[in-house]
Amino acid sequence: MKLEDLVGRERPQGRSFLRWAGSKRKLIPKLERFWSEKYSRYVEPFAGSACLFFSLKPKMAILGDTNVELINTYLVLRENPERMHRRLVAIPRDKKTYYQWRAKSPMDLDRETRALRFVYLNHNCFNGIYRTNVKGQFNVPIGTKLASYLSRNDFARCASALASVKFVPGDFAETLSNVEKGDFVYLDPPYAVSSRRVFREYGIKPFGVEDIERLSVELNRLHKMGVDFVVSYADCREARKLAGQWNSEKFLVQRHIAGFSAHRTPSFEWMIYNSAKRSVASASA
Ligand SMILES: C[S@@+](CC[C@H](N)C(=O)[O-])C[C@H]1O[C@@H](n2cnc3c(N)ncnc32)[C@H](O)[C@@H]1O
Repeated sequence: MKLEDLVGRERPQGRSFLRWAGSKRKLIPKLERFWSEKYSRYVEPFAGSACLFFSLKPKMAILGDTNVELINTYLVLRENPERMHRRLVAIPRDKKTYYQWRAKSPMDLDRETRALRFVYLNHNCFNGIYRTNVKGQFNVPIGTKLASYLSRNDFARCASALASVKFVPGDFAETLSNVEKGDFVYLDPPYAVSSRRVFREYGIKPFGVEDIERLSVELNRLHKMGVDFVVSYADCREARKLAGQWNSEKFLVQRHIAGFSAHRTPSFEWMIYNSAKRSVASASA
């Protein structure tokens, strides 16, 4: 094992400290074109690893997610990134230790150790998947390859990016109830496609087609408020229906939905938005 696998390797600026199946990391250059400093706040109700947030580093933001372990992890990292990193790299990365940590119930741990367990499992599980069984217990096997940890500096950088974030542990509608005129909203919901097998088991209740309908109602509400939004979504009947109501763009991406080889092949992705997209040049100006 290389030293950097043990203590972490410094990554390009803007990288999240978490791995996330379904993360839109590859779409960041396209998504960044929608953001501008004119917005008062960045709002992401399906945060996951919040890769766009860490890339943009907005001064004010709201991050929400139904995954309470994830939100607790963000809070604990923000409080003391160095301690989290120190404790993380001290845990052996082998099969026996992984399954010991996986077997621990988060409810029996203090909130700092819960966050440590979350980050340890996130970095050492198969493809950065977060999946639980019907009892809500994390059940992803150990990964086949050892992903190197981010460095202590990266943990500190992520903690400082989170300095003034308001966190909402809960449904997207709750996060969106905080939105005000002048905010920018990026929505990256789990895929709720019923016609083919996709990775959408983020929690006890999977994201379903009825949630997409709720989302559509929320988008209309945001638009009426004069709030700009962008949704990223895989090509499917529901996405096409949504895209028909707003500005939209469809493009080809290499998707890495964990474990299912069919989803490693290129597939279409939608960006659905209500604002005018800016050129790459004006976005970086
Ligand atoms: C595709 S992932 C988001 C990935 C994220 N854009 C990133 O950069 O990693 C979708 C996220 O939505 C969360 N989620 C699922 N159902 C939700 C709901 N009803 N409300 C809010 N978040 C939800 C999941 O826990 C998961 O973290």
